[in-house]
Amino acid sequence: MLVYLNGDWIPGEDACVSVFDRGFVFGDSVYEVIPVYGYRLFREAAHLARLKASMTAVGMDVNALTVTWSAVFARLAETLPSGEGTVYLQVTRGAAPRQHAFPANAPLTVFAYARPRVPETGVGAGYEISAILCDDIRWARCDIKTTSLIANVLLAQEAAARGAEEALLVRNDRVNEGAVSNVFAVRAGRLFTAPRNHLILGGVTRDVVLELAAGLGIPVEDRAPSRAELLEAEEVFITSSGREVAAVTRIDGRPVGDGRLGPVFRRLHAAFQTFKEEVRIGTRT
Ligand SMILES: Cc1ncc(COP(=O)(O)O)c(C=O)c1O
Repeated sequence: MLVYLNGDWIPGEDACVSVFDRGFVFGDSVYEVIPVYGYRLFREAAHLARLKASMTAVGMDVNALTVTWSAVFARLAETLPSGEGTVYLQVTRGAAPRQHAFPANAPLTVFAYARPRVPETGVGAGYEISAILCDDIRWARCDIKTTSLIANVLLAQEAAARGAEEALLVRNDRVNEGAVSNVFAVRAGRLFTAPRNHLILGGVTRDVVLELAAGLGIPVEDRAPSRAELLEAEEVFITSSGREVAAVTRIDGRPVGDGRLGPVFRRLHAAFQTFKEEVRIGTRT
């Protein structure tokens, strides 16, 4: 696997960063995951805008980045079989003697690689999942896409240990998002999802699904469902770059609605497939 590291192109097994890198020592770093369909990047501009927003939020100098992302992405996409997968990129505050406050002159570490999409197997083939409800134990800046992900790691592990694919996170009785996704509930044909604020990561897939919902005339309310509203919803689904749009048909072992894929999910899932196809042939970004 070819990786990009600080301006160099090297085999993944030869790529090294310092043990004093603040990404390693403090989790002092931000990242992005961008889907690639047919060698083309899905919503590249939105992902780069979010990267800049994350860097700015943690006090990293966006202008210190000299990388030409479009050239890096094009070369990484070429490494993907059939051009299908994701690009991962990470920017850390660089290597410096360990002290919490920012170092004076550490160059940012920039790393990127592409990962092929692994075809899902089994029931629902990745677009039908089960979830658990968990207390949201994360910090209060969930809008920053940082690699300081220990809380998300523990929550995802809790889901896995209980035989589920996602943990839906409850804070002050509101289900804001998942450990690795945004969450939508359908009640009386209306779509509910948490507003874009510091309690959620503003998902790029979420935004696309909201655009598709508007196009299909599905009413949307920018409000996180309460725990009870979620459990009584007709449908629940999640969105993320990795899982795209996936129906949640069981929560804590109990069926959501009638436990089957719902009509709103089906319409949005189909619209998302069309959207992807248009990205593949280059008529949409
Ligand atoms: C906590 C969290 N929320 C939401 C998302 C979805 O964001 P996106 O659709 O941009 O992948 C992710 C994706 O990794 C995530 O980790």
